[in-house]
Amino acid sequence: MRLTVIGTGYLGAVHAACMADIGHEVLGVDVDPGKIRALSEGRPPFYEPGLDDVLTGAIASGRLRFSTSLSEAAAFGEVHFVCVGTPQQADSDAADLRHVEAVIDGLAPHLTRPCLVVGKSTVPVGTTPRLAARLASGAPAGAHVEIAWNPEFLREGFAVADTLRPDRIVAGVTSAGADRMLREVYAPMLAADVPYISTDPATAELVKVAANSFLATKISFINAMAEVCDASGADVVTLADALGHDTRIGRRFLHAGLGFGGGCLPKDIRAFTARAGELGVGEAVRFLHEVDHINLRQRQRTVALARELSGGSLSGLRIAVLGATFKPDSDDVRDSPALAVAAAVHGEGAQVRVHDPEGIGNARSAQPQLRYEADVTTACEGADLVLHLTEWSAYREIDPVKLARVVRTPRLLDARNHLDAARWRSAGWQVRTPGRPALAVLPGPQRGTASGHSARECAAVPAAPAEGTVLSRSPK
Ligand code: UGA
Repeated sequence: MRLTVIGTGYLGAVHAACMADIGHEVLGVDVDPGKIRALSEGRPPFYEPGLDDVLTGAIASGRLRFSTSLSEAAAFGEVHFVCVGTPQQADSDAADLRHVEAVIDGLAPHLTRPCLVVGKSTVPVGTTPRLAARLASGAPAGAHVEIAWNPEFLREGFAVADTLRPDRIVAGVTSAGADRMLREVYAPMLAADVPYISTDPATAELVKVAANSFLATKISFINAMAEVCDASGADVVTLADALGHDTRIGRRFLHAGLGFGGGCLPKDIRAFTARAGELGVGEAVRFLHEVDHINLRQRQRTVALARELSGGSLSGLRIAVLGATFKPDSDDVRDSPALAVAAAVHGEGAQVRVHDPEGIGNARSAQPQLRYEADVTTACEGADLVLHLTEWSAYREIDPVKLARVVRTPRLLDARNHLDAARWRSAGWQVRTPGRPALAVLPGPQRGTASGHSARECAAVPAAPAEGTVLSRSPK
């Protein structure tokens, strides 16, 4: 089929390359000529494992090319995928739909023959009929231009695999013809028995935000339990393991740590609560405010714990930060908990040196006041405290014996609960992981905390608000 993919960010670039990979003729379109140039040369404008191979393969096959022209897109495609961003509005929790609307308004006047426009961007429930009316009035082909909603569930870091082998395909359609076309687009996936859920556009729009809300709730649930563990002496990892054996609950997304960030979960739960309010059912999703609040509190707790481990003040201390991106295997620092904590400890007067395997460029643009280092050893030189904030697998390869010789004080706060605490302890490190207070006082070369307080006392230390950093929002 001849497909266009409009918007070549994380979602669109991967979708375009993967659709060409499965045999379609694809034209990727973006307003950013720099992005289009890079993609045309087979260079993804962001870090995503495996994407460069699929991209270069698709370009070499002659089935994938890129353009900045919506009129070219209209002339080329029978199906147009809309993959532009829907960020949070600057002055409210609601989604900003201006990019989606710009694509619809820019494309419509060029649509002179029947086609299907398929939204993949995350939008508030009820958006599709509004856009359908805009298309129908703006397109010369009028009612022959149909619209469908087909949300995307890919995760950064696994985007290619998630696109080629999705858990499910959700098609929000208003006609059998649109359904047929989408089944044809995804024929290889359907042949591989990927579940295909054909529904109305409102349900399809809602599936996406409901899925992200559920995932966010699961993460905040286990982080809330980590707070209870810190106060009661229980262990959150064992708790999550035990809960996870219940197949109704499951172990995935019960990883307690610094909480969720990125360009999706935080803004999606906020946009959902805003939309529910407009629909008069704000009460129904009020718990999502609490989910957001618990999530942001993990950043404050981490800073408080760092302060406590350092004897009450971070001022003048040298702090090494391992990880800046919102998750590993991505260079994305949007709403990154790691970067927020790094900025907050800097705000409390610490000299911060940040390392990240892929995210330094983006992190430097977002937080230019921090110092960035290209290798772990340099970041940790003379450090009074090491903060492990993003769980890159490379950090598990660090030799704690060697690193102990580099730092001034072998003291580690593993906010992601990911490093082998026993190994670090036996190399002489004092190790603290949130939600695991019992481990903080297990026998080891160094016991307890630097200040001599018990772990439970540490957890009870209130967070001092850090100036100039967004660690919290007012609860609504
Ligand atoms: C998320 C969803 O997982 C995708 O299904 C969805 O398609 C995507 O948003 C989107 O809406 O586009 P992504 O933002 O790539 O994907 O990241 P996740 O893997 O969901 O992780 C989100 C955050 O939660 C990360 O900061 C991660 O560190 C954190 N997290 C995840 C935890 O703190 N604990 C966990 O157990 C799992």
